[in-house]
Parts: sequence; structure tokens; C-alpha cells
Amino acid sequence: MNDKSLESILHEPRVFNPAAAFTAAARISPADYERLAAEAARDYEGYWARLARETLDWQRPFTTVLDSSQAPNYRWFTDGRLNASVNCLDVHLAERGGKTAIVFESEPGEVRRLSYRELTAAVCRLANALQAQGIGAGDRVVIYLPMVPEAVVAMQACARIGAVHSVVFGGFSAKSLRERIEDAGARLVITADGGRRAGRLVELKAATDEALAGSCPTVEKVIVLRHAGNAVAMQAGRDLWWSDATAGQPESCAPAVVDAEHPLFLLYTSGSTGRPKGIQHATGGFLLGAKLTSQWIFDLRDSDVFWCTADVGWVTGHTYVAYGPLAAGATIVMYEGAPVHPDAGRFWSICERHGVTIFYTAPTAIRALMKFGDVIPAQYDLSKLRLLGTVGEPINPEAWIWYHKHIGRERCPIVDTWWQTETGATMIAPLPGAIATKPGSCTRPIPGIDAAVVDEDGREITDVEHGGYLVIRKPWPSMLRTIWGDNARYIRTYWEKFGGRYYVAGDTAHRDDDGYFWVMGRADDVLKVSGHRLGTMEVESAFVAHPRVAETAVVGRPHDVKGEAICAFVVLKGERPTGAAAEQLAGELRDWVGHELGAIAKPDDVRFADNLPKTRSGKIMRRLLRAVARGEEITEDVSTLENPAIIEQLRGKA
Ligand code: WTA
Repeated sequence: MNDKSLESILHEPRVFNPAAAFTAAARISPADYERLAAEAARDYEGYWARLARETLDWQRPFTTVLDSSQAPNYRWFTDGRLNASVNCLDVHLAERGGKTAIVFESEPGEVRRLSYRELTAAVCRLANALQAQGIGAGDRVVIYLPMVPEAVVAMQACARIGAVHSVVFGGFSAKSLRERIEDAGARLVITADGGRRAGRLVELKAATDEALAGSCPTVEKVIVLRHAGNAVAMQAGRDLWWSDATAGQPESCAPAVVDAEHPLFLLYTSGSTGRPKGIQHATGGFLLGAKLTSQWIFDLRDSDVFWCTADVGWVTGHTYVAYGPLAAGATIVMYEGAPVHPDAGRFWSICERHGVTIFYTAPTAIRALMKFGDVIPAQYDLSKLRLLGTVGEPINPEAWIWYHKHIGRERCPIVDTWWQTETGATMIAPLPGAIATKPGSCTRPIPGIDAAVVDEDGREITDVEHGGYLVIRKPWPSMLRTIWGDNARYIRTYWEKFGGRYYVAGDTAHRDDDGYFWVMGRADDVLKVSGHRLGTMEVESAFVAHPRVAETAVVGRPHDVKGEAICAFVVLKGERPTGAAAEQLAGELRDWVGHELGAIAKPDDVRFADNLPKTRSGKIMRRLLRAVARGEEITEDVSTLENPAIIEQLRGKA
């Protein structure tokens, strides 16, 4: 037994081979897979260079493939030049200009379709409008929109003129929005009057006003999309309606041809310390990863209707809504609303009505819908579906099997895709015609990705009983380039642990006899609540911003739908409340955190204590708190605790 590794406990014996008919028609056959893997092993740079040349449309071809001179700030295709929106839009106009690019359905049921030609025109008009407002290459634009086609239009319009977008999830609070605007130094914000979610109005413009009030001096203009129709205040000189901004703008716009390394976007994500990190991606490498993985992992082809349910506020909505499938020329579905509105059949009804062939969602959504039983999906015609996918957290075998049986009708392969905001595109996933699947495993890295599991000393773990750190041993094109404004943090977070040799994902994993990867969870203080990343520190900072809170420690505990629920241990300034007073304050604090960070960060449990369990050196013993939150026996030695009696109180026994 190696005490530098973790013991793995999940053993899932079932194996599902792709159907012969699927394999026969797949873009990547088992032989292709072997050939690609061998090519990548033989000539790593040559492999990526070939794919980059064949996959993307370059305005100026590159001659340099990988530049490691500033490692770990790796750069790819450095002397090549291209434009992302040209690669997603213009390249399709001759052959499929009239083809539907986006099918949009609103929560109340309005359906809108945009062809590639119409989408291109909308992108160009907004791109021209942005330029008319003085926005140019390298300027940051924050996008705070609901899940509507205009969100994709806004992203693509930025890409068209070389502006750098930073999408902020519409569920985030004004305060989160403000932090992100400030960190990015954005000159312009694109928002909407409001969005709709589960029958409720989300007041995006009001939140934007709150975010900008007395701060964010870099913001000069706010473009407001009329969507929900709610009343909003428009600030003269600063705010303008999308329709006015784009009125009279031409339907074509010369693309800004940028260097491959030109930043395409920033996307803020949670880490283990307080401030969210602005993950920065580069145009060429990101686009290559997005398009290639869309084609390989989802087996995307011209006839497909692809629905990735992720919001554009998350990386999945960047790679597999706004860029990858459009670069591949597919038809995508976008839905603004909740999966259970008006009932738990909504997803399946959308699949049926729009003829969805490929459906990609998160395990948390599958678990939530599974709770409503098998009868609901059985009422829908899902015969067009041919492939299913999951992302965001490990999928438990029970949910996998339900998805396979009741949605895929035992006919569709399931691609469990492991990746991160930082990786830009999927890294480990089955190529569906080539790799047999096992419920709960993301299977093997795609050819060209050198993933491994290593122990505390960086040695590869080969013994199947043990897990360790998931690392990537070679740079890859769609990797993050840096953390915006904090390159030292980039190096510290992702490279320091193993002396710059490996990219450290922050996840733990183990491999089985077949070399399949099984992701076990996070190795750091990052929580995964409904598939969304939250840092414990961020939630803790939100708590202590409340005037009554002195100190807090936040941990995760397993939750059958959300994957993980937030449990907060709170020490107040003053008396510890009990009974009804405790309940009332707990409710107030939950709302407070929801307001500070956004509803997804609301803790499930708030427990009050006189103190937190600390070592004599003052370190909070999080492992112990995790055991308390889970209601587990405390097996560890608590004799080093400063205040051992606190355990009983935390467990609610004193
Ligand atoms: C987790 C989402 C297991 C993992 C694309 C990772 C997964 C984090 C999977 C990144 C999967 C994502 N199986 N775990 N298929 N996909 N994760 O940045 O912990 O929101 O580090 O990107 O999600 O979350 P992020």
C-alpha cells in the first residue's frame, strides 16, 4: 500500500461496446483511433500541426507549431493568423448559408430559427456597432445575457473584431459581475433587460446597474438587449438599446485577422483561494480544440441537431454552444429556461420537437430528471437521438444506466467527457465509434492528449487499486494561456506542484486494467455544486462580509441531485443562537450568500458553533468538518485540536 496515493473504492464491472452500425458510420473508427494515437506518439508537433492545418481556415499559415521558450506559458501556431468568427460562420455561407445554425426555444415556448446567413448578418451588425462605440482589438467586453441567440451573436461579434469577451453567467450576482468587470478592465458591457428562469424574471439590467454604481470606471457603454420586456432604467450617455446600436449597421463586417495567440476570451472560474481566476484562452488553439472535439467526440456531421444544455456563462457553453459545433457547421439548439418547466418532460419534449440527434448535459440534470421516474421520458419520441454526453462532474453508474436505458433507449453511446475551463476542450472521453464505455469512467484521453495519474512525488501510478493526481504531461493547443493579470498565480496553481513538468488539473483519479480513467473528485478546496465550480474561500468571504459573522468554514457533502451541497460552519460575533432564532438567522445568511454570489452558492446547511476545530497552529481542520457535515464517524486523532470539545457541539450534540 502506497501512502502517497488514494485508495479507490468504486468498482464498476459493466462494459458497453459501440454498436457495429454506429462504428461502421462513425467519423473515427477503431483503426482511425489507433492510427491517430500512433501518429501523436511518433511526432507530437507534426500531429497537431497537421490537424490545425486541416481543421481551421488560416488567413496566414503558421510555420511555428509549439513555442516552449516561455514555458509554462506555452504558445501554439504563433506566426499563423486567423479569425474565429470567419471559421464559425463565413466558411459555411457558400455551402450551407440557408441551413439552420440555431434553433432557439424560450421558456414560454417561443421558437426562433437563425440560418448561418442570418446569424452571420446579426454578428456583423453587432460587430459594426461595437466598433462604432470605439471597441477594437484587445478591448474587453463583458457579456451578461440570458441563454438567447444574442449571447452567441455577442461572443462571435467580439471575435469578429478581435475584442476579448468575458461572459458572466446570468445567475451571478451584481457583486460577482462587478468583480469580473473590474478584473478584466472591460470597456463595454452587453446585457439584457431581463431573462426568464422557472417562470421568474431575472433582472439583469438592474444587476448591471448595481454592479456599475460607483465602481467599474473602465466601463464606457452598456448595450441592452430588449428581451423579457420588463421596465429598466437607462442611463443617458452610457446605456443604449441593442436595436438602436445596430440600426442601420451593414450586414457585413471585415474580420480582424489576429495572431493565433491573440486572446479570444476570458472566463472567470473558481479556484481554491478567494478571487475567481480569469482564465485566458487563445484564438487558434482554442478553436482547434473546440472544432476537433466536436467532430470526434460527438461524431458531428451535417445532418445532426446538436443540443448542449450548458449556459454560455460556463465553459461548456463556450466550447460546445458558441464555437465548436458552429465551426463544424452543425445545427444547435438553445433553450432559455429550467429543465423542469413547466414539467419534467421539457428536455425530452424539446428533443422530440426539434429532432435532436445529439444531447449533451450534466449528471446533476440527469439525476434531477431521473427522480421524476421513467414514465415521463417514455411519453416522448426520442428515436432521432443517436448519441448522448455528460460533463461537469463524475457521473454515478446508476444515473449513467438510467440515461442509457430511458433516454438512449439502449441504442445511443454515452460520451462522458472530462475537461475543465482551463483545458478549453474535452481531454478524456470515448470516441464513440472506437472506444467501449464503462458507466462512471471518462475512458481514455483523446489522441494527442498525454494524461496520467501520479502520486505525491510525481511518479505515475500503475497499480489499479490506487489513485492520485490527474496531470497532463505535454502542452496541448486549447490549453489556457495564463490567468488574466496574474501570471504568477497561473504558474503556482497549475505547474508548481511537480516543478513545471506537468499541468496539474486539481482532480484526483485512478486508472483500471484497461487504462481507463476514473475521476474521483477534486484534490483542492473547489466544490462542484450542480456541476458548477465554487471555491470554498469565495463562499467563506461572502459569509464574513455579513456584519454578524466572525468566522466561517465551508465544506461540501454529498447530495443526491446536486452532487455536492454546501455546508457552512459559522461562528458569530456574540452569542450563538439556538432554536427558532438559529433557524431564522440561518435563513438570513443563506439569502445573504445568495445575494453576494448568486443563487447557486446558497448553502444547504448553516450550523452555528462557538468555535471552529483548529490545530494548535490555528489551521482549521477541514477534513474533520467534512466528516461532521457527512454525519460520519470521526476516526482521526483529535488530540492535536486546540479545543476538542467543539466536535460535540458541531455535531449538534452539545
Ligand atoms: C469536473 C467543466 C468527472 C472536474 C467542463 C474538473 C468532471 C471540473 C467531468 C472542471 C467528468 C468535469 N467526470 N469530473 N466528465 N467533467 N469534471 O471548469 O472536477 O466548470 O476539474 O469545466 O469539473 O469544471 P469546469
